[in-house]
Amino acid sequence: MKIQIGIALVAITTATAVSIALAQGAGADTYKANCASCHAADGTANSPAGKMMKITSFKSPDVIKKSNAELTTSIVNGKGVMKGYTGKLTDAQIKDVVTYIRTLQK
Ligand code: HEC
Repeated sequence: MKIQIGIALVAITTATAVSIALAQGAGADTYKANCASCHAADGTANSPAGKMMKITSFKSPDVIKKSNAELTTSIVNGKGVMKGYTGKLTDAQIKDVVTYIRTLQK
């Protein structure tokens, strides 16, 4: 019985770790394909396009303190020169990309 519980726990832990890794992977892919050109791979916008548009780094305290909902709204509706991603990315992709931006802020 103890062994069975142990196996069940290992299975649950593994499944959780895999789904977190998948979400990050999906967000990372979406980010690299759609966002990194302007926001740079590390989110600092330290790319030629990012510098030209004077994009705020995702690591700046102003962006860090924004809620996921606020970031999502900017991505969905667009902000400044950035066009909105409605219809281009699914809700799930936008959610994953916000999760990925949070990992860049650490
Ligand atoms: C054409 C260049 C460009 C691309 C591509 C781009 N962005 Fe942006 N992004 C901007 C600009 C410009 C702003 C507004 C300026 C600022 O916030 O400093 C902005 C703002 C944002 C903000 C709001 C930050 C804040 O301060 O509230 C988020 C979040 C964001 N972008 C996420 C994304 C994501 C996710 C993608 C990819 C799906 C993406 N951007 C693609 C140029 C771009």
